[in-house]
Amino acid sequence: MPILSFEDVSKDYLTDGQPVHALKGLSLNVKRGEFVALVGRSGCGKSTLLNLAGAMDFPTTGKVLLDGVSTSSLKDNGLTQLRRERVGFIFQSFQLLHTLTVFENVELPLLLAGKHNPREAARERLAWVELEGLGDRHPHQLSGGQMQRVAVARALIHSPSLLLADEPTGNLDTTTGNVILELLRRLTREQNTATIVATHSLEAASLANTLVRLRDGKIEEITRR
Ligand SMILES: Nc1ncnc2c1ncn2[C@@H]1O[C@H](COP(=O)(O)OP(=O)(O)OP(=O)(O)O)[C@@H](O)[C@H]1O
Ligand SMILES: [Mg+2]
Repeated sequence: MPILSFEDVSKDYLTDGQPVHALKGLSLNVKRGEFVALVGRSGCGKSTLLNLAGAMDFPTTGKVLLDGVSTSSLKDNGLTQLRRERVGFIFQSFQLLHTLTVFENVELPLLLAGKHNPREAARERLAWVELEGLGDRHPHQLSGGQMQRVAVARALIHSPSLLLADEPTGNLDTTTGNVILELLRRLTREQNTATIVATHSLEAASLANTLVRLRDGKIEEITRR
């Protein structure tokens, strides 16, 4: 069974009374272990697709199924739990808390979920992203690439089935960005998650198992390899 299914999904936004058709009848299946690059011009619907995939927002028509469950059918508690435990998010701006240490940033989702003694899990995730030994630093003592690695470690703390990254290399130089993309691809395979990366990077497109090209809210092309 796919981790994520879009079944004829459309998404309209209303701005000043005018509808914007951000996604138009889009269908897509993503499996565990699959690394998907989502590309297309600014405004084609990449972030909208990621927000629907992570149940941060809901389709206007059609269905988004996460592990076979329609996101639109979930109530508050179920949604919070799903977003927190089944999905990991990575952002262009890293979104680390600067008053917390690296360890504390990575542990935060576990603490919010009421788990005690999260240090071992955090230590393991930091090893996955090759940041052993930096747990006691604060974010301002890290490079941009290292900050994004911390964000990746945090996104993986619950061992989510789905990892969503919205332009994760947008604030990094090309070389550092490519290292992050390769890291995401490796972890997708090793941790058997499904990963979708919205990106303008050519490297991401070349690393991906599946390349999804959006145009004006529709899938223009899917290439699998
Ligand atoms: N909250 C919103 N309210 C109204 N319109 C929105 C909203 N979010 C996105 N849109 C519109 O939906 C369309 C798709 O936007 P989206 O952010 O998904 O594009 P994108 O592919 O992520 O672009 P970029 O590469 O610039 O990040 C655009 O026309 C955008 O203006
Ligand atoms: Mg976007």
